[in-house]
Amino acid sequence: MRVHVADHPLITHKLTVLRDERTSSPVFRQLTEELVTLLAYEATRNVAVEQVEIRTPVTTTIGVRISEPRPLVVPILRAGLGMLEGMVKLLPSAEVGFLGMARNEETLEPTTYAERLPEDLSDRQCFVLDPMLATGGSLGAAMEFLFRRGARDITAICILAAPEGVAAIEKQVEGRDVTLVLGALDERLNEKGYIVPGLGDAGDRLYGTV
Ligand code: PRP
Ligand code: URA
Repeated sequence: MRVHVADHPLITHKLTVLRDERTSSPVFRQLTEELVTLLAYEATRNVAVEQVEIRTPVTTTIGVRISEPRPLVVPILRAGLGMLEGMVKLLPSAEVGFLGMARNEETLEPTTYAERLPEDLSDRQCFVLDPMLATGGSLGAAMEFLFRRGARDITAICILAAPEGVAAIEKQVEGRDVTLVLGALDERLNEKGYIVPGLGDAGDRLYGTV
């Protein structure tokens, strides 16, 4: 598994505002979208392309285009939905599938309440969007779904991650082609399974339920 932790002052600046408890939902949504677009640049580094010949007004030349089958982008509802626009801005030709998951706040186990994905993902590159990688339960379950349907490789974009979650995913996906692209790798999880220092509950902050 490859792990890429962003190291760019613009990303750290936006993350700092996102973490601040005084940041309102509209600003939180805007920053989430901007952060995803910046992280998506790194996350799509290995997107499959094929050569094409085109004519410029001056001559013919060889370029590339994103190849078939199209990449699949999968936001994990609810909070991952706040990342979708930022991602498809950079990858407009991608297909979008959905997974709805909620973590039981007592047991920290995820349950899946919605699934809308293509049946056959053979040879598909998948990009999973979830702002928070805490215990890794939700992202791990999402990756299982996709690999069981034949996904070729999975890149997850998370705004924040805890070392415990990264270790859990690494153990689970051993031998598979997985990349994590993280806005920041935080210190730890607290006793309630929240990322520290973190940003609180991403879904609540995105959708104003606090
Ligand atoms: C949050 C977050 C992740 C999950 C992370 O979602 O968006 O999906 O928790 O925790 P884990 O790594 O321990 O599984 P939540 O279940 O709160 O649902 P929401 O997006 O509807 O708020
Ligand atoms: N889910 C969140 O939204 N925040 C955390 O810190 C952990 C899980």
